[in-house]
Amino acid sequence: MEQRVYSLPLIGDPAPSFKAVTTKGVINYPEDYKGKWSILFSHPADFTPVCTTEFMTFAKRHQEFRDLNTELVGLSVDALQSHIQWLRSLEDFEYRGIKNAKVDFPLIVDITMEVSRLYGMIHPNADATHAVRAVFIVDPKGIIRTIFYYPASAGRNFDELIRIVQALQYSDKHKVATPADWQPGDDAILPPPATTAAAIDRMNDKEAKCQDWYFCFKEIKE
Ligand code: BEZ
Repeated sequence: MEQRVYSLPLIGDPAPSFKAVTTKGVINYPEDYKGKWSILFSHPADFTPVCTTEFMTFAKRHQEFRDLNTELVGLSVDALQSHIQWLRSLEDFEYRGIKNAKVDFPLIVDITMEVSRLYGMIHPNADATHAVRAVFIVDPKGIIRTIFYYPASAGRNFDELIRIVQALQYSDKHKVATPADWQPGDDAILPPPATTAAAIDRMNDKEAKCQDWYFCFKEIKE
């Protein structure tokens, strides 16, 4: 097995900057997306079945991301002509009731693998010539807030992609955390108190639903 040292951006890091050709023209990332959330994601290859279902689903749910002030940016190591032909072909398929799928977000042409290497999307022991399914969720200040990696064989869960953006935005707005399987409308989690005095205050907070000093929920009225 190949052993190498890789450098890849981590949660809390500024998203590495790059300029790239896409199906929507040249983009400067993340600069062009300042003030918006963005999801930079990779797929292994055009004209492959799992990726086809993912792009049809991205097309269907694009407006839901937009409603969350969130832009989508795809990437694979394929050429521009391949991207264009593949995206056109999606319109002819049907998957889970999705028909006539039109992809209206940029798909990066990364034949040189410059961007995919910059973001640690190439996992050589899985596949040295294609990206894995990586997802980087970047906030309006250009900071990486969540990273997911999936293997080529497993398509992503779009309910979770939307839920994590909602959870990040909710945590930022209300300065709270979100519990396992949190959904909008559920109680928040109060982050653990940082001092003994704060722990005592927390237990006396009538609005906090505490089971112990470190295990408190709170209903947030939006
Ligand atoms: C797919 O998208 O179907 C796929 C791509 C690469 C390897 C395996 C599956």
